Amino acid sequence: MTIQRLQSHWGFTTMPFGRGLAPSMLHRHGGHAEAVARIAWCVDQHALGVITGEVGAGKTVAVRAATAALDTSRHVVIYLPNPSVGVRGMLHHIVSALGQVPSFYSATLVPQAADALAAEHAERGRSPVVLIDEAHLLDNQQMEAVRMLTNHEMDSGAPFAAVLIGQPTLRQRLRLGVLAALDQRISVRYTLAGMNATETADYITHDAAWPVMRRRCRTGLSRAGLAVEASA
Ligand SMILES: Nc1ncnc2c1ncn2[C@@H]1O[C@H](COP(=O)(O)OP(=O)(O)OP(=O)(O)O)[C@@H](O)[C@H]1O
Ligand SMILES: [Mg+2]
Repeated sequence: MTIQRLQSHWGFTTMPFGRGLAPSMLHRHGGHAEAVARIAWCVDQHALGVITGEVGAGKTVAVRAATAALDTSRHVVIYLPNPSVGVRGMLHHIVSALGQVPSFYSATLVPQAADALAAEHAERGRSPVVLIDEAHLLDNQQMEAVRMLTNHEMDSGAPFAAVLIGQPTLRQRLRLGVLAALDQRISVRYTLAGMNATETADYITHDAAWPVMRRRCRTGLSRAGLAVEASA
């Protein structure tokens, strides 16, 4: 069904729920709560995690919810929305987010990023949280760079947390032999299934969401009727 047909079916003037939902507006269904809890565990344990799910399952929403709950005086969130920038672009982003000028030479960027991540933790007492969204788009060299970053002082505990978020192909790619070394560093894996019909009906009629639905709808919408139709 196209967006236009969907809007005219329900009588919406605009789509009721966009990408910029405030954390208070989110629906804490089972899968969402699990994903948020596992991201929080990674952050707490300075571990490497992988969250996968189909397009629109709510992965980015879960990441936003998990980071919104972090204490900003103790964490620095480094979010890469799109990793299609090569190894250099990825490391550049990390180094500049930590307030340093990225090295001109690619060979020294990995150690610089690793040192910057470690220094943030050791000297400023803030744990970096590196979140790489759309991580199924990472190429093998970028995966290798992530592994090298997580190598840093691994025996005594990594100074930062990292979470790769992507579509189900990410899970399959990590099983490839060339990525085995990275794969064995992963402490947490979770596949987000998205909302089922009952959870969707519950979401669009729950107390925080319902006023938005009603405001954006030009037809008289019945809350009970909507719940029945949404779960059908
Ligand atoms: N827990 C939730 N509560 C409310 N809305 C949600 C929730 N999860 C997802 N959504 C809705 O679904 C939309 C898509 O979610 P999101 O962008 O997180 O999907 P995604 O898994 O990251 O998809 P993609 O693979 O395309 O990046 C959001 O913009 C939001 O409107
Ligand atoms: Mg996303």
